[in-house]
Amino acid sequence: RQPVDSPLYALLSAASDYYRNALKNHPQRHTAVSYLKDRGVSGVIARDFALGFAPPGWDHLSKHLSGDSMQQKALIDAGLVVENADSKRRYDRFRDRIMFPIHDTRGRIIGFGGRVLGDDKPKYLNSPETAVFHKGQELYGLYEARKYNRQLNEIIVVEGYMDVIALAQQGLRNAVATLGTATSEEHIKRLFRVVPNILFCFDGDNAGRKAAWRALESTLSNLKDGYQARFLFVPDGEDPDSLIRSEGLEAFQARINQHSVALTEYFFTHLAEEINLDSLEGKAHLATLATPLIERIPGANLRALMRQKLTQLTGLTSAPNDNFTPEHSNTTSHDWAPEYN
Ligand code: CTP
Ligand code: MN
Ligand code: MN
Ligand code: MN
Ligand code: MN
Repeated sequence: RQPVDSPLYALLSAASDYYRNALKNHPQRHTAVSYLKDRGVSGVIARDFALGFAPPGWDHLSKHLSGDSMQQKALIDAGLVVENADSKRRYDRFRDRIMFPIHDTRGRIIGFGGRVLGDDKPKYLNSPETAVFHKGQELYGLYEARKYNRQLNEIIVVEGYMDVIALAQQGLRNAVATLGTATSEEHIKRLFRVVPNILFCFDGDNAGRKAAWRALESTLSNLKDGYQARFLFVPDGEDPDSLIRSEGLEAFQARINQHSVALTEYFFTHLAEEINLDSLEGKAHLATLATPLIERIPGANLRALMRQKLTQLTGLTSAPNDNFTPEHSNTTSHDWAPEYN
């Protein structure tokens, strides 16, 4: 999937060393240090996640890593240095930002996220797609979660870098972030290779709720029997970081235990949200929406139970038909013979 021995890895690692060292020693580090302190990040967590600081200025990193022209070119390939298309002028991509290195599961640094210290835009700047960094596939914090847990049973999926950091700060070292992109099937496959349980906990806003449904869709086709996903919806305006910082670990865990909902429950409540299930039309509508999704579930038992639940809600029974093949999971509607009771 990734080049086994790209020269970019060494460069990215050297850049991370530079940023980490700058957070400790650079004369202008103080704003960064107090920013992290204000957000409740301890030295231990900063160390464990190898947080760094890109100082303000156009060429700190390029000067530090300057070498021959091949090295200069490699810095561009690694996404660390940007070359202006017209002027050909080169400058450091990350300036005056808190740096979050992103590791692959083998622990190699493949890219960075950088957060501004104030309210400038963009709030986060990420490495571009490179030979070793494919944003849509990576999960920030997965390497660290595996490193700092002897055994993992569940992974919490959140949206952002600081959500991962804040949960780790409170002792929940099993969170990963999708880096602001939609949760993909590739993400889910990766997670289910590591744990049988996923808890999604996105932001309490429209984007977060959309992200949750999208995550459900990506999860369905990976739900073998024995694997499960749950959702914790946080109050409006909160995200996992703000919530766990304001209510503390115990309340947050109690919230997970009492208020997280199973994927199967979220599935029906969400689909039926705007449907009147007292009418035949409503029941038909729900069945139309739910059936193709249910048929994507590879776990035969869960699939059967979901059909049964749909029958309870609508009165519709499906003819027994278990010739399920994932390739045709989107087009099973012909095979499905609805009958009224
Ligand atoms: N993101 C991004 N670029 C942006 C905004 C967001 O890549 N301009 C990604 C980041 O990975 C970010 C995640 O989307 O962590 C979630 O975005 P958001 O909820 O807006 O940010 P927070 O992580 O809550 O940021 P913070 O708490 O630091 O303000
Ligand atoms: Mn977001
Ligand atoms: Mn958000
Ligand atoms: Mn936040
Ligand atoms: Mn957020």
